[in-house]
Amino acid sequence: MSTNGSDFIVVANRLPVDLERMEDGTQRWKHSPGGLVTALEPFLRSRSGAWVGWPGVADAEVEEFEEEGLRLYPVSLSAAEVRDYYEGFSNATLWPLYHDVVAPPVFDRSWWESYVKVNRRFADACASIAAKGATVWVQDYQLQLVPQLLREQRPDLRIGFFLHIPFPPVELFMQLPWRTEIIRGLLGADLVGFHRPGGAQNFLWLARRLVGLEPSRGAVGVRTRPGVVQVGDRTVRVGAFPISIDAAGLDAIARSRETQARAKQIREDLGNPKRIMLGVDRLDYTKGIDVRLHALHELLAEDRITAEDTVMVQLATPSRERVEHYKQMRGEIEQVVGRINGEFARVGHPAVHYLHQSVDRRELCAFMSAADVMIVTPVRDGMNLVCKEYVACRYDLGGALVLSEFAGAASELTSAFLVNPHDLDGVKNSLYAALTVDPAEGRRRMRALRRQVLTHDVDRWARSFLEALGSASPN
Ligand code: ADP
Ligand code: G6P
Repeated sequence: MSTNGSDFIVVANRLPVDLERMEDGTQRWKHSPGGLVTALEPFLRSRSGAWVGWPGVADAEVEEFEEEGLRLYPVSLSAAEVRDYYEGFSNATLWPLYHDVVAPPVFDRSWWESYVKVNRRFADACASIAAKGATVWVQDYQLQLVPQLLREQRPDLRIGFFLHIPFPPVELFMQLPWRTEIIRGLLGADLVGFHRPGGAQNFLWLARRLVGLEPSRGAVGVRTRPGVVQVGDRTVRVGAFPISIDAAGLDAIARSRETQARAKQIREDLGNPKRIMLGVDRLDYTKGIDVRLHALHELLAEDRITAEDTVMVQLATPSRERVEHYKQMRGEIEQVVGRINGEFARVGHPAVHYLHQSVDRRELCAFMSAADVMIVTPVRDGMNLVCKEYVACRYDLGGALVLSEFAGAASELTSAFLVNPHDLDGVKNSLYAALTVDPAEGRRRMRALRRQVLTHDVDRWARSFLEALGSASPN
């Protein structure tokens, strides 16, 4: 055990930076994809904490290093572990299972073994760098066994766990052959946090059902009451903590002269259409990118909008490209984009501009500032930060947000044009309403959205989680 190690440690599957190997053999670090890193990075930098995570490529033997005030501790994964623990169990078993089985989860025993082994490695890494009594904040579905594995070695630590994706309904979770092990793993924490109260309820029910009924085998008794699981004499608190963004930071970038000039340039590059629709997502089948493309296609085919008037931009970050569902979905999306452009584009004027690329933060703000309608249509999403980012960028009260009811953010952003992504007519009508909204009504909605987003930022989220963790029984 370290006596003068780190007092505050975040452990997540990924480090906030990803190692990129170039063709000429050199390597460089780039920003990691996804909402977890977007949310946690600004907060952690302000606290000068430590971050334990995978550098994003197989077999990377990298020593710990310091990056802009953050101490980074890389955990190495072999190529087989990337395949079995990351692409397999994390992203072809847990990801679809936790997102309402929108794709069929694959249950493979060798993937599970790899998941256990890698979770142990992350727990060992934390145990060896944590100072006595330190706080360790474990993140997300890839590391659900870490709380228990860490507690076994280091009962002196204060351990929090936060799940960044939905926690599924009980009937779906029960499909998992290793359901009891996962619940036991999470119960190693002092505080288990979810985005929504429904997730916390599901977890409490499962703890009682799967772990609470086994005292005869010498296990410690487990009892639950609202918001609490009692594991022997240890108290595990359970609650909802809706995550958010660095709203003030984005607002400031959006207001800058450079961003506004870049937004104007983007509009010009797109041919100064009357309206621009924007989608920004990781290329993931939960995000409903196909839903919005089908809606656009039908609105164009029915002449309710024209490709001269209305242009769509879809920015899609490459994601999990070797996982089968992702490969298949990419093909389908690219086919629909091709079809829409084939039918409605003119030379030099596509109807859909599809970029299978990631852009930097400033460029993203410029796109958001240029877009009249932001369209966010996941079939299931734990929170979704993109919709909050759009709102934070619209200091001018311009723009309209179309948002799926199945994103966690929908319960906070009630002044958006809310849609059921399974109801194509409903999506089309709401999209059309957003494209043609009366400016005064649009401003009224945006003002209400901004009131919510600017007062509930990521700092507030992190502080409320850590305060709850601080008041949880240290052991
Ligand atoms: P998830 O975590 O599932 O990817 P979120 O909406 O919560 O979904 O977070 C996604 C994050 O990734 C946001 O900060 C968003 O701005 C960023 N992002 C998504 N697509 C792109 C892109 N093409 N270029 C730059 N950033 C992107
Ligand atoms: C979501 C998950 C994160 C994950 C991110 C990017 O936000 O909740 O845990 O890091 O997607 O996915 P990736 O598989 O590239 O890490």
